[in-house]
Amino acid sequence: MPNQYTLPDLPYDYAALEPHLSAQIVELHHDKHHAAYVTGANGAIDGLAAAREKNDFATINQLEKNLAFHLSGHVLHSLLWKNMSPDGGGEPEGELKAAIDDQLGGFEAFKNQLTQASNGIQGSGWGVLAWDPTGGRLIVEQVYDHQSNLGQAAVPLLALDMWEHAFYLQYKNVKADWVTAFWNLANWADVGERFGRVSSLSVV
Ligand SMILES: [Fe+2]
Repeated sequence: MPNQYTLPDLPYDYAALEPHLSAQIVELHHDKHHAAYVTGANGAIDGLAAAREKNDFATINQLEKNLAFHLSGHVLHSLLWKNMSPDGGGEPEGELKAAIDDQLGGFEAFKNQLTQASNGIQGSGWGVLAWDPTGGRLIVEQVYDHQSNLGQAAVPLLALDMWEHAFYLQYKNVKADWVTAFWNLANWADVGERFGRVSSLSVV
């Protein structure tokens, strides 16, 4: 069976997000870090297949942890690239704007919550805007690593990478400046399109 997961091409050149995000970071982040999560997710899938084949589950705990970590890293990075655009910034429009107004207190309140949640992460993680199909509402999540501190079934729409590899070469220890820069890159057309795709999702 071929590899399940593949590294998506960037939708722009490495330097396209400058000055907000340097070409060096984009290249390393995509070609090395994201690629490693793809490799790791495929490795976990292969390892679990081998375990089933041999009926040897001695390493099941590590394999399942690896799957959760690497698959989640792959998903969130795949979103990240499309969530940013050289023509980004501004505010959401249409149904996404209406949902943010109705469920998160308006754009400024939502922006403040996601900013604070992102800046407050202890260690590595993400700030995420997600659609929670159980409540039928948008939520902001403070994700640890790639896969922890999540509500089940929530679908990520906007993912802000707060791992040091996402900003350190440009912003050093001032991670709040990376968050400020991210708002200039946010691709609301992409987020709005995702919202339209999942807002009628039913899970439970
Ligand atoms: Fe990352």
